[in-house]
Amino acid sequence: MMHPFRCEICGETYLGSSPPERCPFCGAAGKLVLPAAEWMNYGKIEMCQQSYEDCQKALELELNNYAYYKCAVARAQSQVTETIFKRLMKHELEHAEVFAKAMGIELPSAPDVTCAGDDVTNMAESNKHETMAIKFYIEAARRAPEPRIQQIFRAIAEVENEHLVTTNMYK
Ligand SMILES: [Fe+2]
Ligand SMILES: [Fe+2]
Repeated sequence: MMHPFRCEICGETYLGSSPPERCPFCGAAGKLVLPAAEWMNYGKIEMCQQSYEDCQKALELELNNYAYYKCAVARAQSQVTETIFKRLMKHELEHAEVFAKAMGIELPSAPDVTCAGDDVTNMAESNKHETMAIKFYIEAARRAPEPRIQQIFRAIAEVENEHLVTTNMYK
């Protein structure tokens, strides 16, 4: 029996007989993928100035990482690394959308970013970006007074950590 499930972080719908291990769209942990009937649309979040600035910075980081992975996909040296970079690229775009939605703004276009011509350098560079993002998201979650903003930063920090594990396997 197929059931609709919906991600509490990115809002995308997944159809399956059981909840997925991770959201196939944004990578959020499976516990955040709920039966669709329980899903709640948070929309734009009322937030303090600090949280707004943190979301703005997060949005920039995500778009930058998205653009970086897009370049890494185009220059991937094997089908395996292309697949990995593509998955990371899609997650980062979903994350950017999550922050833009919470802020109540349109998704800005991604910047022009260049990457290296080899997978090893791109994996290492990716590690730096993800590590920086995780550190910042954990700080942002700690200082955010809004429960939804805390939830977003924690959930996405956990996804970036999973990205780190993935790229570390290919260093
Ligand atoms: Fe998701
Ligand atoms: Fe991300």
